Amino acid sequence: MTPPAPSGPVVLLGCGRLGSAIVEGWLKTGAVDPSDLIILTPSAKPVAEQARARGARINPPHDELEAARVLVLAVKPAMWRTALAPLIARLGPRTQLVSVMAGVSAADMSEVSARPVARVMPTTAVAQARGVAAVWSADPGALETARDLFSPMAEVVDLETEGQIDAATAVAGSAPAFIYAFVQALADAGQAEGLSMEAARRLARGALRSAGAGVETDEALEALVARIASPGGTTRAGLDAMSASGDLERAATAAVTAAVQRARAF
Ligand SMILES: NC(=O)c1ccc[n+]([C@@H]2O[C@H](COP(=O)([O-])OP(=O)(O)OC[C@H]3O[C@@H](n4cnc5c(N)ncnc54)[C@H](OP(=O)(O)O)[C@@H]3O)[C@@H](O)[C@H]2O)c1
Repeated sequence: MTPPAPSGPVVLLGCGRLGSAIVEGWLKTGAVDPSDLIILTPSAKPVAEQARARGARINPPHDELEAARVLVLAVKPAMWRTALAPLIARLGPRTQLVSVMAGVSAADMSEVSARPVARVMPTTAVAQARGVAAVWSADPGALETARDLFSPMAEVVDLETEGQIDAATAVAGSAPAFIYAFVQALADAGQAEGLSMEAARRLARGALRSAGAGVETDEALEALVARIASPGGTTRAGLDAMSASGDLERAATAAVTAAVQRARAF
């Protein structure tokens, strides 16, 4: 017989950039019913107020945490011990932990909390229900909980080992910023070739949207490239120049390596 799905509130600890995106995604997709949502936040946040208007509880008395099925840790890695310490004794024995923090090991969180932990590395596009989220846990129940919370608003990618999460942080969590930075560099280069700042900015953003639309087709990246780069054409000339310089690979490797090292240094 299949065990009943765990019930009880979902507690979100930290409602900053990522925490707010997660709440937005839950509200948008209904993955968490607002009446089942508790948000713990030191300062007022617009999205938490939206959730409150739909039935969520913001900073309720700690005895309301006892029934929680899961606590999602979304504070900065340097803050987690301080933020979690006053809550541990208030959590019921069945409350699982799901961490979206970079660089904090499941073993450390399990040791402090004496409960199973899943790690998730999402992008902030969970807010639009178009995120991607790497997930890992040694505990099948916690893994299932993490998947339930994120799959309605993100493509969930299972990792084989916890060690892979630092690379996933770079290639998913951080990568949208790397891509925005590249698109900004393209806009700057377009300006150097004579476009106005406004036209370069709008064209580069539009190109990013177009690239995103291509990805939505699920075709391989190589096929998407080939579709635009006809032999002897302008795109092929640009790609060949990038490839000959080796700068793109160098920049991508440098960004991912630095992000991985940063995650390992928390
Ligand atoms: N941003 C991303 O794209 C992204 C992607 C993947 C993973 N992450 C991970 O997500 C975590 C949060 O990152 P972020 O960018 O969202 O940081 P952030 O914007 O600084 O948010 C952290 C939040 O934690 C809150 N906080 C601090 N102490 C607290 C406490 N005792 N109880 C409850 N909340 C507390 C802060 O509240 P106040 O605002 O009131 O100070 C702040 O809003 C990090 O661990 C990061 O590794 C982020």
